[in-house]
Amino acid sequence: MKVLFLNGPNLNLLGAREPEVYGRTTLSDIENNVRKRAKELDVEVDFRQSNTEGELVNWIQAAKGTFDSIVINAAAYTHTSVALRDAISAIGIPTIEIHLSNIHAREEFRHKSLIAPVCRGQICGFGAYSYVLGLEAAIYVKV
Ligand code: DQA
Repeated sequence: MKVLFLNGPNLNLLGAREPEVYGRTTLSDIENNVRKRAKELDVEVDFRQSNTEGELVNWIQAAKGTFDSIVINAAAYTHTSVALRDAISAIGIPTIEIHLSNIHAREEFRHKSLIAPVCRGQICGFGAYSYVLGLEAAIYVKV
C-alpha cells in the first residue's frame, strides 16, 4: 500500500511558525514520525510540501494509478481552493483531510473547508499526531 502525504503553504515553517498554535515540531520531525509508523504498518509513504497551489494540483492528478490514498494538510488552501477540491474529486482516490490545529475552534474563516465534502473524513486538533492518525485512517479506508 502506498500513501501520498501532501502539505500546503507555510507548513515548511513548522517549528518556528506560531508555535503556540502549531507546536515546535518541524515538518521533517513529522515526516520521521509518519515514516516510523508506516514501517510498523508495512506502508510505503511519499511525503511532500509545496507553497504553490498548482503544484499540489499536479501531484494530486499524478497520484492516480500510483497511490492508494492521499493524506492532505492543505493549510490555507483548505479554506480557499476550488482547484484542490476539484482535483481530489476528479481523481477519486480516497483522501483524508488533516490539520494540526482544531480549525473549528479558531477564526471563523477557518471553519469552512472547501475540500471536506470530497474527502473521506477530517482529522484536526491533535498537533503532529494528526499526521499519524491520518496514516491510520488511510489504511482504514483501504480495507
Ligand atoms: C492548518 C490550519 C489552516 O487554517 C492554516 O491555514 C494552516 C495550518 C493546520 O494544520 O492547523 O496553515 O492547516
